[in-house]
Amino acid sequence: MINYSCVLTGKEPMTLKRSWHKVTIMCGIVGYIGTGEAAPIILDGLSKLEYRGYDSAGIAIFDGEKINIKKAVGRLKVLENLTHGGETMPGYAGIGHTRWATHGAPSDVNSHPHFNKNGTIAVVHNGIIENYIPLRNKLLGKGYEFISETDTEVLAHLLDYYYKGNPLEAITKVLHRVEGSYALGIMFADFPEEIYAVRKDSPLIVGQSKEGCFIASDVPAILKYTRQVYYVDNQEVVKLRRDHMHFYSVDEEEIKKEPVTIDWDANAAEKEGYEHFMLKEIYEQPKTVTDTLSPRIKNGEIVIEELNMSDEELKAVKKVHIVACGSAYHTGVTAKYILEGLVRLPVEVDVASEFRYRNPVLEEDAMVIVISQSGETADSLAALREAKSRGFKVLGIVNVVGSSIAREADSVMYTWAGPEIAVATTKAYSAQLAALYLLAMKLGRVRGTIDDALFASLLSDLKKLPNQIELLLGQKQKIQRFANRYVGAKDIFFIGRGIDYAISMEGSLKLKETSYVHSESYPAGELKHGPISLIEDGTLVVAISTQPALFQKTISNMVEVKARGAFVMAITCEGNKAIEKAADYITYIPETNPYFANSLAIIPLQLFSYYVAVGKGCDVDKPRNLAKSVTVE
Ligand code: M6R
Repeated sequence: MINYSCVLTGKEPMTLKRSWHKVTIMCGIVGYIGTGEAAPIILDGLSKLEYRGYDSAGIAIFDGEKINIKKAVGRLKVLENLTHGGETMPGYAGIGHTRWATHGAPSDVNSHPHFNKNGTIAVVHNGIIENYIPLRNKLLGKGYEFISETDTEVLAHLLDYYYKGNPLEAITKVLHRVEGSYALGIMFADFPEEIYAVRKDSPLIVGQSKEGCFIASDVPAILKYTRQVYYVDNQEVVKLRRDHMHFYSVDEEEIKKEPVTIDWDANAAEKEGYEHFMLKEIYEQPKTVTDTLSPRIKNGEIVIEELNMSDEELKAVKKVHIVACGSAYHTGVTAKYILEGLVRLPVEVDVASEFRYRNPVLEEDAMVIVISQSGETADSLAALREAKSRGFKVLGIVNVVGSSIAREADSVMYTWAGPEIAVATTKAYSAQLAALYLLAMKLGRVRGTIDDALFASLLSDLKKLPNQIELLLGQKQKIQRFANRYVGAKDIFFIGRGIDYAISMEGSLKLKETSYVHSESYPAGELKHGPISLIEDGTLVVAISTQPALFQKTISNMVEVKARGAFVMAITCEGNKAIEKAADYITYIPETNPYFANSLAIIPLQLFSYYVAVGKGCDVDKPRNLAKSVTVE
């Protein structure tokens, strides 16, 4: 007997559309079995995963006789209201899900959990089952009926098909048949004392406390209950019971695993009085940069033990390939300017989705670096695997400890930014820059392109960055007032040369993703080759000019856009007086080595984006259509 209820949204689409859009997804999974009431624990866990992006939520709880499911389109609040905070769903075992629509529109019927035909097997799923159409056709041929448009429903029926009284056997048989990426939470009504977790290429952890065992897509969901977590490996199956967990391979062999202790500050994933996580994380940057730099500066030298590369090996590097997505890609572009300028090493930077399919030429003695906050970005992970399959060692610059990229890279340099919750990255971006500065200085030192005097001066400037960031954060109100003037802006342009172009890319991305204002970034010198035609009376052009050698060049570009009616906001270094006649509004950054200017210039740009978004009433931490980690291509 199925007890299935949902908030109705009208007519549900029943036909399966082949042309689904592969969008960025990152649903959330939470499961619990223990001595406490499961529903409130699962709902609370899901609320900690809201940052991942979702459009509907659902929960399945075993009530002692049967599995009950409730689902609702919209914010988690709707599901919380529907279940009175979980009170109307009593039971000690359950699985919950926040869904980001891929196959089929956001609707109640497409939301997870999904049931088998008689409601005895419930499944929640993150990822995409790539071969779901042939599997679905096969199941249709065997008399199964589908009620949703999702790929996930195939899993529920396939489990039903293989289930002969042994959940583990059914799950592993399904794993042998499905292709794609998945993290799953599964429960069987016949086995109310157990819930199951499985994953492949989509993150999933499990954890245990005195009160029970937990499944989660990410640590914040269960941090309140336990700090002892296990990272589930690809194609591992976990059987969770009230007081213990067992791990199995896809061949049903039991595996021994060691837990990892999470040492995050208990408040790390809380807003702590800030209106948004994004603002809190902007403010955490002095600490983030300090935490990333200081463990690697020892007795006046840069020591990056995790590199696992001798000085000889570092000297032998002939070329660097940097691969990443989004903001992480922007830090890679900054690194290109630094590594080429300071270390004289040729660098190619690729967006991971391009790298993986363009058949890149990787010469012998190349160093491959993959940069990622989440460590789960599907394209970055695929690029890493591509490089490894060609025999190259990969250095991961990663924030999330134990993530897929961290585990698969040959060496990992962690950015110690702590959990980043807002979808728009700020502190992890700054930590990535800090890690890349260290790497560049280490390489330059070993390869003899940075002499003692330059090294001492760079090191001194590096150590000043956290305080200088703090100083810039003090300009919050000034930036807020300026941002308020652009709440209604239609288009905003960001320009810069050299490293300033890399900063302008990040400034533009931050603005568009948080405030939905259309914006473009251009190398300043490229403007007159086309985009200048877009400048109208009053268009805001943000000109970044932190590289003294290029001050005059950028001023010329500012004058050009001003002559066409643009309002020019400049971000430049203290003392750049010449810029005053070309800019309408100026924000100065403190003196630093030009190679490190990105870390300072980005602060007013982050604050600007944040306040435009707040002024427009946008959902700052969870912008529309975006997810924190993009685990599908
Ligand atoms: O987790 P990753 O660093 O691999 O994520 C890469 C991008 O998806 C990410 O930087 C994205 O562009 C952010 N929304 C930027 O704020």
